[in-house]
Amino acid sequence: MKRITVAAGRAPYDVLVGTGVLERGELKACLGAGTSGIVVSSRRVMDLHRARLQAALTGAGFSPRQILLLADGEAAKTSAQWEKAMSAMAKAKLDRSSFVIAFGGGSIGDAAGFAAATYMRGIRFVQIPTTLLSMVDSSVGGKTGINLNEGKNLVGSFHQPSLVLADLTLLKTLSRRERQSGVYEILKAAFLRSSSLLALLERTSGLRRASDADLERAIAASIAIKARVVEGDERETGDRVLLNLGHTVGHALEAATAYRAFTHGEGVGYGMEFAVDLSEEMGLLKETVAKRMRRAIMQVGPKTPLPEKLIAQIKTATLSDKKRDGERLKEILLRGVGRPLIHTLNANAFSRLTEAWLVSRIRRRSA
Ligand code: GLY
Repeated sequence: MKRITVAAGRAPYDVLVGTGVLERGELKACLGAGTSGIVVSSRRVMDLHRARLQAALTGAGFSPRQILLLADGEAAKTSAQWEKAMSAMAKAKLDRSSFVIAFGGGSIGDAAGFAAATYMRGIRFVQIPTTLLSMVDSSVGGKTGINLNEGKNLVGSFHQPSLVLADLTLLKTLSRRERQSGVYEILKAAFLRSSSLLALLERTSGLRRASDADLERAIAASIAIKARVVEGDERETGDRVLLNLGHTVGHALEAATAYRAFTHGEGVGYGMEFAVDLSEEMGLLKETVAKRMRRAIMQVGPKTPLPEKLIAQIKTATLSDKKRDGERLKEILLRGVGRPLIHTLNANAFSRLTEAWLVSRIRRRSA
């Protein structure tokens, strides 16, 4: 078991990574005796992991007033689902001392976290992520929120959890594609900050040949990297933007295909390829290092092929990215492993670069 303490928000909190961390004493200690609360999850997650959740809650002596089921995936992050959560919390008579337990993937975590952030101006919550992606990314760092028709995560709050339990046994039910999605975020952390994590990913072919101990080490290392960045810049006014490596192109790919064609990780995988190619082209990255990085991205596994017909939509989505600051856009480039760089460029220039890259990447594939 590994413990990472995150010094952000009102009080430092622990992230526990390992097999069986749900049943350790930390959940009980965090919730305290006689505390009221609800669990927020989805039917799919509960169908898979009901018994594990029940065992953890019983062990913690916690009996939730409700297990609220929100829609699966991004559909959990609507204002209607948020309202449903607010009503459920009010009907359950939660008060300022109550807890929300988020039990699910990234969307459930974001929606439940936002419900906790807004109910009675903010109550405490625990994150129990059930996917690799949410373990290494969204469950840590306190970003919570919902979507609007006008864009993803446009409504939200920075609200840090009180405890995060990343239990490896929950990952056993993930499909290869879901697991792979999380590995791209781990690789992102390695590119940003850690050659030893990159070496671990290389040795295990993108965690495809990882033992449980390797997996625990990789998850914990990735979370620790994110934790240190968040501690330095909780509200993303500086270095937290580095965590967006690969995300501008990634989000554009996801948005242009209505979040149906690519997993989030695949988008980030393509986005990191773009960042590596651009960094090399600009003379920031040595050819040997760029090659090593490209190989590490490929090792994670085959990605859904890029849709040729959607180049125009991808271009538009890139231009409407919410991280755009007026006509300027921040793209994270690399000067080496552990040496990221924030590169500000004109949004139109960025869009042209992305389009040209996509065209050449698609041709390379079919060549
Ligand atoms: N997912 C990036 C962040 O939490 O800042």
